[in-house]
Amino acid sequence: MVSTSTIAKNNNIKPKDLFSYLIVNKFLYKEGRDYKLTDKGLSLGGEYVKNERFTIVTWDDKRFNKIIKKLAPHVESSTFRYPMQFLSIKNKFGKRMGDDIFDSLNRGVAILETEAQLEQYLFSHGAKHHAKMKDAINELLCEGRSISLSSEIEIIDYGCGQGLASNVLLNILDANKFPIDNIKKIILIEPGKIALDRAVDFLKNSPKVVPVNKGLDDITTKDLETKEDTIKIHLFSNILDMGGKHFSIENLAKKIRSTQAGDNYFVCVSATNEMELEQFTEEITQVKFKSQIEEILERQGGDINLKGKVIFSPDTQLDTIKFISKDTSNIHHPGDRHKSWRRIHMVFKKEF
Ligand SMILES: C[S@@+](CC[C@H](N)C(=O)[O-])C[C@H]1O[C@@H](n2cnc3c(N)ncnc32)[C@H](O)[C@@H]1O
Repeated sequence: MVSTSTIAKNNNIKPKDLFSYLIVNKFLYKEGRDYKLTDKGLSLGGEYVKNERFTIVTWDDKRFNKIIKKLAPHVESSTFRYPMQFLSIKNKFGKRMGDDIFDSLNRGVAILETEAQLEQYLFSHGAKHHAKMKDAINELLCEGRSISLSSEIEIIDYGCGQGLASNVLLNILDANKFPIDNIKKIILIEPGKIALDRAVDFLKNSPKVVPVNKGLDDITTKDLETKEDTIKIHLFSNILDMGGKHFSIENLAKKIRSTQAGDNYFVCVSATNEMELEQFTEEITQVKFKSQIEEILERQGGDINLKGKVIFSPDTQLDTIKFISKDTSNIHHPGDRHKSWRRIHMVFKKEF
């Protein structure tokens, strides 16, 4: 027997929504602050259980399935479950571990080697990376822009660390009631074993998680295997700005171009280094972008050769490329309106 709140949590439904459903459909009613079972609730197997402080309503998990089917069709019948909200993960596992550990993160780019570093990373960088990634993914998924509920998708998370970007994407798909069974694969690429294990653990109930314990220069075309008829979502959260120093952007883009087919969406987010994000986008799309100076000179009628160069803008129409969003404005701190975080994101689609 499990409590109503636990059933809600296990099925990624807000407890408040489940209680209102049970009241509206006359399985429960309220007496003061307490929930009481109606005859209908009792016949569904509802029971009262007393602990020292409260009397709570519990249910037989199996008999409750009919209700879950109606309320959460996107998770019903699947053996998979969406992960918990990323901010709950951050609050549970993120801890301040001290200045030495903070310094050892090297502003987030170090390969993490201890649990203490994982915890400090979540504490120091979790909330801002979450906010930036969420904003970019919302650009991708808003107004059914890229995927419908019947699409099948595969996800590749490059330099995934503890899997933050995949988690944020799954939280948003969950909120959009995307059927979890339509996620066919999640490839997690990360050279740090301890961070990768943590990412796998956070995503353990998700469909086919494939960990690749390598740096981006070492991945093979086999590691990037996906199917032609799925929608691929490529996630780059705070990793492309490390390109050039830690791995070759050109080689990475070449591997992606040679392995991926069909519809591919790219969500690239970093704090700085717009040039690296642009370079990667140019390498994937195989078009060159006009620089700001070139744009100004062109508007002034200057005699410069910009043949084939384009502006990254949703207004730029190209055959196999759709530019969705480029944003270099800072993002507001959700808890403090005077603070903001630097970010640059580029979201685009390329058909191969
Ligand atoms: C700033 S963190 C970003 C982690 C994660 N994507 C996020 O947003 O939280 C950079 C990550 O890149 C990983 N990394 C370092 N060198 C790498 C390389 N050569 N190839 C791939 N990842 C690398 C680090 O281990 C670390 O997890």
